[in-house]
Amino acid sequence: MTQRSGATPHPIPPAVQEAYGPGDLGSMSLFGGGFINFGYWQGIDLDRPLTEHDRITSQRAMYRHVLGALAPTEGLRVLEVGCGLGVGAAVALGEYGFAHVTGLDIHPQQLERAGRINADVLARRPEQLRFVPGAAEDMPFGDGEFDRLYSIEAAQHFRDLGAFAREVGRVLRPGGRVEVAGFFVPDADPARAGRLAELLDTFADGLDVAHTIPFLVGSLERAGLAGVRVTSIGASVWPGWDRWLAGMWEPGTWPRNFLRAYHEGSLDYFTVAAERPVA
Ligand SMILES: C[S@@+](CC[C@H](N)C(=O)[O-])C[C@H]1O[C@@H](n2cnc3c(N)ncnc32)[C@H](O)[C@@H]1O
Repeated sequence: MTQRSGATPHPIPPAVQEAYGPGDLGSMSLFGGGFINFGYWQGIDLDRPLTEHDRITSQRAMYRHVLGALAPTEGLRVLEVGCGLGVGAAVALGEYGFAHVTGLDIHPQQLERAGRINADVLARRPEQLRFVPGAAEDMPFGDGEFDRLYSIEAAQHFRDLGAFAREVGRVLRPGGRVEVAGFFVPDADPARAGRLAELLDTFADGLDVAHTIPFLVGSLERAGLAGVRVTSIGASVWPGWDRWLAGMWEPGTWPRNFLRAYHEGSLDYFTVAAERPVA
């Protein structure tokens, strides 16, 4: 069994260090409330003024969309990669009947915040929830430790998506399943990365990486995962996110350019599911 020791901590890219350290993206009014994702807005009426409550409801719905796809979940061990403030891991534990939930994040300050925000759950269910420092590309876990693995809106920060896929294939047990949700370039057109850097500061400054869906699918398959399924959910993400922003941010600003990138075909939001074959 390969047990990664974590003796040499994986380097945190400077832009990630800043965004989730001093920058504290999760405390910005754009994201405040615990979740740091663009939300899954299906079922929310967009033809009325949207509130912060709607935005947080959509972000929790993103977790429920992903966790629901991992069914059955009762009594299983699950790993969340890039857990941020840990409120989604608490949803997994509270609503999906997992026996144990592990939240992994590369940023120590995020994990400090996760510990504070979830102090109550950690105190009540110490045997069932933990937050662990470490990188998606070099996970500090043994082979086959998990039945399920998910990651929500974190893969755009991973420097080495191929290493992440290999680690998914390693830490999942045979028969285990993975669900990744996030924003990716939909095709292999090499011009997309440059266009994203023009539109979106976070691609220009290196916080986000223009990973493509073909590369993610190929990486999962090379890691031995089977049944890879890609679903575009952009229609349930970008219009709601942009509608919520419309009263506060001008067209052409960073958060509003995501919808533009989606309409142009440069970027979309996807779920990508796969499983580790039994034999
Ligand atoms: C946009 S936040 C998403 C948090 C959470 N999944 C949510 O939806 O609320 C991305 C998180 O991924 C973490 N992260 C970035 N690069 C990582 C890596 N290589 N390995 C593990 N976590 C990483 C960041 O520290 C941050 O907490």
